Amino acid sequence: MEPLHLRQATIADLAEIMRLEQAGFAAAIQESAATFSERLAAGGEGCWVLAAPDQRLFGYLCAEFWRYQADVAAERFARDHSAAETHCADGEEIYVSSMVVDPVLRGSGWGSRLFHGALDAMRARHCQLRSAILIVHPEWLGARQIYRRAGFTEIGTVPAYFAAPDGASHAAIIMRREDRDGGAMAASAPGATPDDGDLMRLQYPHAPADH
Ligand SMILES: CC(C)(COP(=O)(O)OP(=O)(O)OC[C@H]1O[C@@H](n2cnc3c(N)ncnc32)[C@H](O)[C@@H]1OP(=O)(O)O)[C@@H](O)C(=O)NCCC(=O)NCCS
Repeated sequence: MEPLHLRQATIADLAEIMRLEQAGFAAAIQESAATFSERLAAGGEGCWVLAAPDQRLFGYLCAEFWRYQADVAAERFARDHSAAETHCADGEEIYVSSMVVDPVLRGSGWGSRLFHGALDAMRARHCQLRSAILIVHPEWLGARQIYRRAGFTEIGTVPAYFAAPDGASHAAIIMRREDRDGGAMAASAPGATPDDGDLMRLQYPHAPADH
């Protein structure tokens, strides 16, 4: 079995991240290579990848750190916004801007492991983090299930965020998990504990019963 590592992304991962972005989202809602490049430069501590030994990527998660605000303006979630303007290295809230698992691995727990592993790793390295926020399409049921099981709740919507093929649009659901008491933000997936280095060794493929 080939191990997958969860590690921080670097600019060398950009082409693989874009391959996953294109596999993960319809063309109309994909973000650009320039956007990801800026995320990696401005807030590399929020960008994590599931990498094979040959550096092929099987998943990525990108996040920024934001100053905590009880009410977040809809414009903050704008697609292709500048991470250089919004990322705040000592911000208290993780904004998960995007996550994709390679289609060949979906449905066997990797999305959940990536999400929990990356958020736990950020929390372990940045002790000021006290909450997390994200937006999701109402029809992305797998993603919604991961967030719900991680304790996120729906706190509002961003109207007309996602264009639909028929010309209509969908609101984005805003989900947040608060952890203002300083406890663990999310329960780790079994076998997905970040160590004190860069790498988290996971087995690929793993038995479904593992998660
Ligand atoms: C979302 C995504 C990362 C999930 O990856 P994954 O490896 O399939 O995730 P998992 O195998 O950990 O499954 C997550 C959960 O969703 C559930 N799920 C998956 N598809 C589902 C569906 N169509 N309906 C309901 N639940 C579903 C799984 O059963 C699992 O729930 P469980 O842990 O309670 O059993 C992956 O589907 C993906 O890359 N999608 C395209 C991009 C995307 O939607 N990104 C999220 C942006 S907000």
